[in-house]
Amino acid sequence: MDPYFLPKNFSLGTATASLQIEGGDTNNTWYRWCRQPGRIRDGSDCSVADDHWNRIREDIGIMKKLNVTTYRMSLEWSRIQPDIDSFDRDTLEHYRDEIGQLKKAGITPLVTLHHFSNPIWMEDSGGWIDESSIHRFERYAQVAARYLGDLVSDWVTINEPNVYLLLSYVNGTWPPGERSIIKYIRGARNMIRAHIAAYRIIHETRREMGHGDTKVGAAHHLRLFEPKRGTPGQRLAAFLQNRLFHEIFITGMSEGRFILPIGAGYPMGRGNYQDFLGINYYTREMVSFNITKPGQMFGDIGTREGAPVNDLGWELYPEGLYRFCKKYYRRFRVPIYITENGTADREDRFRARYIYDHLLQVSRLIEAGIDVQRYYHWSLMDNFEWAEGLEPRFGLVAVDYATQKRTIRPSGKFYAELCKNRGVTEAMIRKYF
Ligand code: BGC
Repeated sequence: MDPYFLPKNFSLGTATASLQIEGGDTNNTWYRWCRQPGRIRDGSDCSVADDHWNRIREDIGIMKKLNVTTYRMSLEWSRIQPDIDSFDRDTLEHYRDEIGQLKKAGITPLVTLHHFSNPIWMEDSGGWIDESSIHRFERYAQVAARYLGDLVSDWVTINEPNVYLLLSYVNGTWPPGERSIIKYIRGARNMIRAHIAAYRIIHETRREMGHGDTKVGAAHHLRLFEPKRGTPGQRLAAFLQNRLFHEIFITGMSEGRFILPIGAGYPMGRGNYQDFLGINYYTREMVSFNITKPGQMFGDIGTREGAPVNDLGWELYPEGLYRFCKKYYRRFRVPIYITENGTADREDRFRARYIYDHLLQVSRLIEAGIDVQRYYHWSLMDNFEWAEGLEPRFGLVAVDYATQKRTIRPSGKFYAELCKNRGVTEAMIRKYF
């Protein structure tokens, strides 16, 4: 292992999502989903999670100890707009206070508007399958930008529309638990258009407020799909996965262009709808074609035999991050933010190495002239991992859910030193590996 360094203006941070950490909200679809028996693998639920709603000061204190200079967080739509006709001022004040505290601590917020959870009224009146979602989301984005726009310049509209639609509308393991590839496609069309509408309204709103430094993008979940052994059927499977899971979203949300099978042309007009490209990268998967698996985009998906894996069986494959960033930077030529990267490692056996390996790829990318500007580690602390429940541990900080005690893991200490030194020194290698 060798030392490496990142440029002075490179930002290091952590990421979370409101539903996964806040607790205390009963107006969202996940709260309701958790109440249905058998929906959450370990039987836990999201009603308290990390109780972050009541522990903002403490959690920002921890971020300071980690030496991060930026934080990706999300707003809970169901809290801000508890029903179709009203926006909740107290909630908006709460977020103003949180963001104000972050800025005081020298931490730049990157704020996500939609991270998987919906207000119950929204889902029950058609959710993302209904075209009304576009305007609804635009209105919510406008309110958020008006209320917080003096404090927040950097926004993520939608987190991982591909993961959200696949699990909610095709696999049926997330609310509302449906199984329809047609709905996946309809949802994709609406989410892409909602992103573009939000992109425009956030820019417009902040411009009217006199701010010219707005940055808006989306966070794309990219999983590297590779043909198992390279047969034509497997190559077809990898092509289909890539197209249905990545390309329709990244093309639509970046350029406004619909490609098959979601459509053709530019329904919202041709443009550049991203000021940065957000990449969430975790792993790669080996695929082969299977016509009987529409729920998996007609593919059998598995981990490469003998590959090192995390607690959830996901392959540890840092080169994938390099490959994706290079590919999409060449195509779009906008700055890249790694909006998520992290691993489930309950015993904290390999997280520090995971961070070392992935940021090494980032340093290689920068050397190769790829404009990667930020890295957000997923996650600041252990949290509610959706249908998996509280069991998987993604945190730099361990959380004891019985007492809400937070403890920085050794990998968190490693990351804190990395943030401070903006790189990995010889001494760190000796100390941690
Ligand atoms: C999501 C997070 C999730 C993480 C780990 C990402 O796909 O945005 O909400 O916790 O992966 O599974």
